[in-house]
Amino acid sequence: MYRPELHFTPEAGWMNDPNGLVYENGRYHLFYQYYPDDVAWGPMHWGHAISRDLLHWEHLPIALYPDKNGLAFSGSAVRTNDSCEPDPEGRHLVLMYTSHGTYEQQSIAFSEAFTAEKPPVKFVPFKFNPVIQNQSLKDFRDPHLFENEWGFCTWNAVLAAGDRALFTGSSNMINWGGSKPFGPFEMFNGCIWECPSFQKVDGKYVLIVSMGAVGTRPLGDGYYWIGDWNGRQFIPETEPERLDFARDDYAAVTYYGAPEPTLIGWASQWAYANQVPTGEEGFRSQMTLPRTLSLVETPAGLKLAQKPVDIAPYASTDWDPEHPYLLQLHEQGPFCVTLYNDEESVSFGLDADNCLFMDRRGLKPALWSEEFDKEAYSFCRSPRFCTGVCDWTLTVDHSVVEVYADQGTRVGTMLIYPGKPLEKIKIERS
Ligand code: FRU
Repeated sequence: MYRPELHFTPEAGWMNDPNGLVYENGRYHLFYQYYPDDVAWGPMHWGHAISRDLLHWEHLPIALYPDKNGLAFSGSAVRTNDSCEPDPEGRHLVLMYTSHGTYEQQSIAFSEAFTAEKPPVKFVPFKFNPVIQNQSLKDFRDPHLFENEWGFCTWNAVLAAGDRALFTGSSNMINWGGSKPFGPFEMFNGCIWECPSFQKVDGKYVLIVSMGAVGTRPLGDGYYWIGDWNGRQFIPETEPERLDFARDDYAAVTYYGAPEPTLIGWASQWAYANQVPTGEEGFRSQMTLPRTLSLVETPAGLKLAQKPVDIAPYASTDWDPEHPYLLQLHEQGPFCVTLYNDEESVSFGLDADNCLFMDRRGLKPALWSEEFDKEAYSFCRSPRFCTGVCDWTLTVDHSVVEVYADQGTRVGTMLIYPGKPLEKIKIERS
């Protein structure tokens, strides 16, 4: 009853972060943090799937296994291009990931050659891993590869290193050097930086970082900066802004080589991801809908806008809790969309203070988690960047609700687990 249809889920077992998002020959590859033997986090593998439309996925064999260097933590992928081709026999994907052992070090793996007809499904870790060694930092992970457009055949990676991001470079993906830090910043004191992602969008560069919850900072959250890149260093031109105003979107990263900048996040939250009641259905966690990115000038400055892949052909515009649902509104003033049954309700909308909200406090207490019902996660509210008419899209796919407002400059992702289907809908305007 809770398994989404249009959001990617593992066939069986546990999933967290999206990894190695890479596009080749019309195919979107999605790798992901995977533990096949349980519905809770465990020794990390990389699961693998492909899609042509980012909505219908074919599950492929596991791409990476834990090995002598450690567990296969998060990372990214690129495809080698003709000018940089290391192997005349064909083109390859290169995965770069964190080997989580005594220390966290970075490793690479090469795919078998692929063609337009045959996607790569086998990956071989490089013999001399790790390629970026580390014997000192406790947290040093989640490399995100990108091509350096200033240099011939050169690559960059941005990594999470404790309380900052590190940009580094290589001409062959094996020898890395010349690292430049970004951060730390006072407002993120006490967070562990995770899963950085770096992407050119509309002529600017966007750095996304997931700020991991630790100790005094209980809430994990994604943030982004918009700025410039001089080939070695990221120069931010905006203050950090939240990527999602609710709490169930983490570790979001972008595609390498896709026709449009495209982002996928993990639609869950570490505070309760291991307990959500989908365990009985044999899986835990789903990805967000894939979203294309653009920059939009708002009255509050330049913002990143996220537009979900078009689900209209597969979603109903009549509310039915058993099917994906799509609602699009243009509203002058406050409104509230409520999904409910005789005992429970959830509501989403815009309040009289021009704030967007997502509210699942009307669900029965979640007996499986002490965190899920806490207000910080269950009632999320955020001012718009705009005034006047609000364009607002709601998608509901069983247990995953997403809201996109004002061209997607504000986005919210929220999980809902009602005790029985919320059969009714009402839309109120005040
Ligand atoms: C983020 C994260 C990453 C790490 C992975 C381990 O959710 O903590 O930093 O690589 O999950 O599964």
